[in-house]
Amino acid sequence: MKVTVSLIKADVGSLAGHHIVHPKQIEAARENLKLAVETGLITDFYVFNCGDDLELLITHNKGEDNPEIHGLAWNTFKIVTDNVSKPMKLYAAGQDLLSDAFSGNIRGLGPGVAEMEFEERPSEPIIVFAADKTEPGAFNLPLFRVFADPFNTAGLIIDPRLHKGFSFTVLDVLEGLKVTLNCPEEMYDLLALLGTTGRYVIYKIYSREGLIAASCSTTRLSLIAGRYVGKDDPVCIVRTQSGLPAVGEVLEAFAFPHLVAGWMRGSHYGPLMPVSLKEAKCTRFDGPPRVVALGFQLNNGKLIGPADLFDDPAFDYTRMKVMEIADYMRRHGPFMPARLGPDEMEYTTLPQVLEKLKDRFEKVK
Ligand code: 13P
Ligand code: 13P
Ligand code: MG
Ligand code: MG
Repeated sequence: MKVTVSLIKADVGSLAGHHIVHPKQIEAARENLKLAVETGLITDFYVFNCGDDLELLITHNKGEDNPEIHGLAWNTFKIVTDNVSKPMKLYAAGQDLLSDAFSGNIRGLGPGVAEMEFEERPSEPIIVFAADKTEPGAFNLPLFRVFADPFNTAGLIIDPRLHKGFSFTVLDVLEGLKVTLNCPEEMYDLLALLGTTGRYVIYKIYSREGLIAASCSTTRLSLIAGRYVGKDDPVCIVRTQSGLPAVGEVLEAFAFPHLVAGWMRGSHYGPLMPVSLKEAKCTRFDGPPRVVALGFQLNNGKLIGPADLFDDPAFDYTRMKVMEIADYMRRHGPFMPARLGPDEMEYTTLPQVLEKLKDRFEKVK
């Protein structure tokens, strides 16, 4: 029987500004998903948070884009918003949902979704990633390195099953188009797209035999809404081992703290910090941006785990490096390239400030 893994997230309000999800929000989400297990709608679930984003990991047999499953996630976010976030006056209650709470971010958004359906292998290790204070393009660099760079993934050279490479389906989030490129032969074309992280976003990665290997959320809500509505803190699911990259090869790509968009007011670049669940809470300048990695074994759709994979001194050096880079970036204050460029700033509150100056400009003679 095929299993579907759905990772659906939303920021529905948080404790002390955009810092963390409150334990009562997690509890309310768990209660609702528990009922769905009891009625047989879903097989299993795990609720967690990365910073202020509430993450619902759900397994079931209904395939991708299933209205019942998406409805369950939506209702869960609504229940948490109405029964916990609003009564407790948490910050930006219902931020990513249709809501009447105002936070400086405009309401009217949908949650982020990463899903994949597959035949469960005799042993099925998966890793789910969730990030805060960044955007879907943040996964472009590490996922490219995991599935296409032999200096990251030894299996691409050593293991005949990986040696053929992988296919990347990339979305153009500005135009609503998609393209699939094969690696290694189209690697340079792929990189020509993936380097533009705000526009081209990895959606799915397949083995050359068509086995689904990775799935990412791709929503750029500001592009849909046409204005700043909170960063689309992304999620991603990766299958590992037995013909796919090893767990350690997947994690290796996060040892380099690359710069991502989304720090402070969704308007700055900062290094992505791999952290444990307990450290998944942004502080300095509302950051630096963070990512958690949870490992699970699937057992007939049941989730065995998690293993909190970045909860390891092996990533201390990366975290130190992050703080060094964060410090350096902050010294730029409001200057590019620490602050995002004008195209991205279109979706923030900056245009309101510039509008005020409009009439002060004179023609240069
Ligand atoms: P507000 O303080 O107006 O919510 O804006 C700042 C911020 O945190 C942007 O999300
Ligand atoms: P979130 O997108 O995580 O809600 O953060 C908003 C923000 O701009 C914090 O500075
Ligand atoms: Mg928030
Ligand atoms: Mg967030």
